[in-house]
Amino acid sequence: MSLRDRVESAFRERFGGDAPWLVRAPGRVNLIGEHTDYNGGFVLPIAIDREVWIALAPQGDGHVEVHSLDYGDAAAFELSGLSHTGDGWPEYVKGVAWALQQAGHVPLGWQGVMCGNVPRGAGLSSSAAVELAVLRAFAAVSALPWDAKAMALLGQRVENGWIGVNSGIMDQLVVAAGIRDHALLIDCRSLEIEPAPLPPGTAVVVLDTSTRRGLVDSAYNERRGQCEEAARYFGVPALRDVDSAAFAGMATGLDPVVRRRARHVVSENERTLEASHAMRAGDVGRLGELMNASHESLRVDFEVTNAALDAIVDVAQAQPMCLGARMTGAGFGGCAVALVAAEGVDTFIEDVTVGYRAATGLVPRAYACRAADGASVERAASTEHAAD
Ligand code: GLA
Repeated sequence: MSLRDRVESAFRERFGGDAPWLVRAPGRVNLIGEHTDYNGGFVLPIAIDREVWIALAPQGDGHVEVHSLDYGDAAAFELSGLSHTGDGWPEYVKGVAWALQQAGHVPLGWQGVMCGNVPRGAGLSSSAAVELAVLRAFAAVSALPWDAKAMALLGQRVENGWIGVNSGIMDQLVVAAGIRDHALLIDCRSLEIEPAPLPPGTAVVVLDTSTRRGLVDSAYNERRGQCEEAARYFGVPALRDVDSAAFAGMATGLDPVVRRRARHVVSENERTLEASHAMRAGDVGRLGELMNASHESLRVDFEVTNAALDAIVDVAQAQPMCLGARMTGAGFGGCAVALVAAEGVDTFIEDVTVGYRAATGLVPRAYACRAADGASVERAASTEHAAD
């Protein structure tokens, strides 16, 4: 049963009648440009066909009630008195209401059913998918105008101000603004977006190591602090403003660890811009090389890979059909991404699964992804679910 059918039928069962609103938001995978967003730099992600769906109806009062089919659990709260009550998924729903109120909006109540298939904690932005789906839900029942960039910034505010994760803008922006069959080159300083078509004849394959990270507890904030320290040393607002020539001329005075962190960010920004050019020119060979170089930089200089990520990337890069592979997302576990010649995807997935298992004893999950549209409203027509 599709996610759409699942939320629709669960809504009917619980609330009686068809849901007047249906919204969805995708997860994302980043092709290149890692740990550059909070340095004002460039990223090149795609929204993927793994999603969160919500079927919902407005409620006249300021009450919100959401049932999660994935957790078998419900969240209920009043919009007039938002407070933290734990650290589970309901905090993302409350956090969205809080961020909307902080921005001067007046979100209204609703009741609904939510479910999704974005793997959690895997570096595929399951939390941004929930945030943007819930933003779509509030915007729908509260008649708020939808502006993808403004909504992405609100999603980021949920992470930074309510959840307590100091993350950048990449995840929420691509989840809000993704374009089918395209990657988005995002300038994380100006928030300007340039769509770049995915090269024909290639497939994007997500390789889940089956190892998980804890973003809040991880070294993410430490890396961010080291980047800020390096920017202060170079006398610029962010590492975005340092190119490799300036880096080579000045970096010797930096603490060696901070120097390596900065070298990753400076080189990754350049790789990302070059990758978007290669993509537009259809130069898949170069695109793959840049992805491989990105992994090496994240492994050696930024030190955010783990043994499982390194193993799966090694195995992937050794496959003849693989154009390039690297870890994706914050790192420390989770997923890698590979660009693969489309005709070889099935063999690639089989061989990586066997090779990774032999190298680590772990069972990976691997699947080809399509580049999907960003968060959307999909109002159900009654005939569309007659067959489920
Ligand atoms: C996480 C954060 C993003 C970004 C990546 C690393 O996904 O949420 O903002 O910093 O890590 O590129």
